[in-house]
Amino acid sequence: MKILIHPTSEGAVKAAALQIADLLAARPEAVLGLATGGTMEPVYAALIDLVAEGQCRGDRFTSFNLDEYVGLSADHPQSYHHYMRRHLFDALGVPAAQTHLPAGDAPDLAAEAQRYEARIAAAGGIDLQLLGIGANGHIGFNEPSSSLASRTRVKTLTRSTVEANRRFFAEGEAVPVHALTMGIGTVMDARHILLLATGAGKARAVAGMAEGPVSAACPASILQMHPSVVLVCDRAAAADLRMTDYYETVHPDGAERTGEPA
Ligand code: GLP
Repeated sequence: MKILIHPTSEGAVKAAALQIADLLAARPEAVLGLATGGTMEPVYAALIDLVAEGQCRGDRFTSFNLDEYVGLSADHPQSYHHYMRRHLFDALGVPAAQTHLPAGDAPDLAAEAQRYEARIAAAGGIDLQLLGIGANGHIGFNEPSSSLASRTRVKTLTRSTVEANRRFFAEGEAVPVHALTMGIGTVMDARHILLLATGAGKARAVAGMAEGPVSAACPASILQMHPSVVLVCDRAAAADLRMTDYYETVHPDGAERTGEPA
């Protein structure tokens, strides 16, 4: 795992956006796995800027999002469909047919989950999966105790995740308690993985992910078994890591290349 610790969250965000832009510059038709959440909002804003500056094209990729709330239609303002249009797709002008999210309002969610897996496979699999991390170590909506081999399916959200998501909903509005999410096995099939974590609230999860035992108690820890993972974080999110000296020796201030092997 390549661990890049940036002095600031702005630096970490920019680095994550640049990694996506580099891939799109090399392969505009790449298949991206995309994530939602507060952490990703500035990443998508930075990517939109990079496309506007001509660093890469932003209208040829195919994308598959990690998850969607069960029961929310694509035009619900708090749905992840809506989030993606608002924060990325509309600005880039990427054709809707190239972007995919699971349908949280499908009448048969098990069939929808299977269809989603089949669509990813038909696209040739995911080249780069972008991930955030929940404070309890979840990725997508794979809560602790999720099977590390799981595929796309419905998951019940933990009380702490529901509470964390409440900030995105209007006061008094019901916050969904189920989601349709790619499984951990689905995420692990991606050829490359980029996990971004910023802020002190993620410090415990980041330490569990990178240095803890591989365990369903911290679903992100399975990434230790993936051959191509980059963790980009800021100093606050890196605060509980034990081997920071080493990571900063290899990649000072999160620098990608130092002349030393990673
Ligand atoms: C939700 C999403 C995850 C995201 C997590 C953290 O659970 N399903 O993909 O990583 O929230 O979100 P935030 O970036 O807002 O902390």
